[in-house]
Amino acid sequence: RNDSVVGGKSFTAVAINCASKAGEWIKTKLGNYASLDMKYSSHDLVTEVDKGSEKLIRKLILTYFPDHSFLGEEGVEPGPEASAQALRNARDAEYLWIVDPIDGTTNFVHGFPYFAVSIALAHKGEVIVGVVYDPSKDELFIAEKGKGAYVRGRRMQVSGEDRLSDSLIATGFPADDSYALPLNMKGLAAVVPKARNVRIAGSAALHMAYVAAGRLSGFWEIGLNCWDLAAGALLVRESGGQITDTSGRPFDLGVRNVVASNGLIHDELLATLKSAEAIG
Ligand code: IPD
Ligand code: CA
Ligand code: CA
Ligand code: CA
Repeated sequence: RNDSVVGGKSFTAVAINCASKAGEWIKTKLGNYASLDMKYSSHDLVTEVDKGSEKLIRKLILTYFPDHSFLGEEGVEPGPEASAQALRNARDAEYLWIVDPIDGTTNFVHGFPYFAVSIALAHKGEVIVGVVYDPSKDELFIAEKGKGAYVRGRRMQVSGEDRLSDSLIATGFPADDSYALPLNMKGLAAVVPKARNVRIAGSAALHMAYVAAGRLSGFWEIGLNCWDLAAGALLVRESGGQITDTSGRPFDLGVRNVVASNGLIHDELLATLKSAEAIG
């Protein structure tokens, strides 16, 4: 029996279905949410749309796969300690769905159309399916372990730039500003003069999908969580890119300080961050 197909539904098909349903609904709420709350800091926002998206996805996934485990951002107490603990509690599950119901909430709140739904499935701690959906552009990024990654049905391939000076790079500013913000600022100061330019567009999942698609050559950020990264990491890897922590160790679900790239500029980006003492 093929374990990835249950009741006629493949894992990937369910991930796609959830991401598109949630994404379409989120899009109708753009600039039209009802309640806005702060979580960990004044930079850490949540709306009823984040919660509603997570609820919709959770319900659909558990309908198809009632034995699977589920880890979604809005089901976890805010802050880095609680997030790390939630992952430790969940990561040994045979099948674990890792969901960011809106990656880019700040953009969503301001009507800036760059946010995504991120859904990953890990088998015994290893990501085997990753789907990132950008409803504003109706772009669906899909990766299956060992089977490549696709956008709009076309196989993705990372970019060919082999120098930082020819590369467009992205980064982000996390909600946990006490620890991560100073490090990200140092990294930014070091990378901006060396790279062609740097973008801070506000969705880690989309930044990684863009690395996979060759639209960016690299991305780094300090202080992320597994729901920001799990799907994007598989997209990058399956498109021929490299994904590590800031000390160069290969990605796993516990990584919070991430560097994703086309592989060719990876060492230069790591070295630049290291020289600026921006690696955490
Ligand atoms: C955030 C986004 C943002 C990144 C932050 C994340 P959220 O996720 O990915 O780009 O800079 O670190 O927390 O809260 O919008 O899901
Ligand atoms: Ca959030
Ligand atoms: Ca996120
Ligand atoms: Ca989120």
